[in-house]
Amino acid sequence: MSKSVLQEQRHYLRAMGIDLWLERSQVQQRGTSVENGWQNLEQVVAVCQRCELHLCRKQTVFGRGNQQARLMLIGEAPGGEEDRQGLPFVGKAGQLLDKIISSVGLSAEDVYIANVLKCRPPNNRDPNSEEMAQCKGYLQQQVDLLQPQLILALGRIAAHSLLDVSSALSRLRGQPYVFAQTQIPLWVSYHPAYLLRNPADKAKAYEDWLKVAALLK
Ligand code: URA
Repeated sequence: MSKSVLQEQRHYLRAMGIDLWLERSQVQQRGTSVENGWQNLEQVVAVCQRCELHLCRKQTVFGRGNQQARLMLIGEAPGGEEDRQGLPFVGKAGQLLDKIISSVGLSAEDVYIANVLKCRPPNNRDPNSEEMAQCKGYLQQQVDLLQPQLILALGRIAAHSLLDVSSALSRLRGQPYVFAQTQIPLWVSYHPAYLLRNPADKAKAYEDWLKVAALLK
């Protein structure tokens, strides 16, 4: 279709109060800029030297999953296997996480997975407050780009960092919060590595996940 015919068609559609063409091009523009946003952010994170963890990492661990997912899962920090592969939750805890996701009827398409920290702390020690402060902006930008329907914080460290609280995880789960300055609902559940060590709590985690899956529908 020639440009002038297209312009004429738009003119009539607009006169009729139909702005379908405009909307479609705007959606395409947003899609492209979001795609660029993800690529740019990943490149920035890959060379980050904002804290000392860059000295001992093999590589940064940015995220994995569908960048248009409805559910964002946020863990603590990469472990050894994640550091080797450059992907979050690909070790034993990740295998359990994948099983939990499918046990509540969700698929890989439904989730995007990231961590509070993008680099592995030595010997898997807890992240310190300086590391979390330096990395916080990256996670905030990931949330901005993804615009998930819901965020699930996995474990004490992620919950404390995202909610800026210090209560026990058992008190934090089972109720909704919101993420930072957004309106995005945030729920809290157990970390899969904790569940591997404390299988008796798997039933409670399953309850949390059923709730999350129901909220997504
Ligand atoms: N634990 C986490 O919190 N994140 C990972 O990516 C792996 C294990």
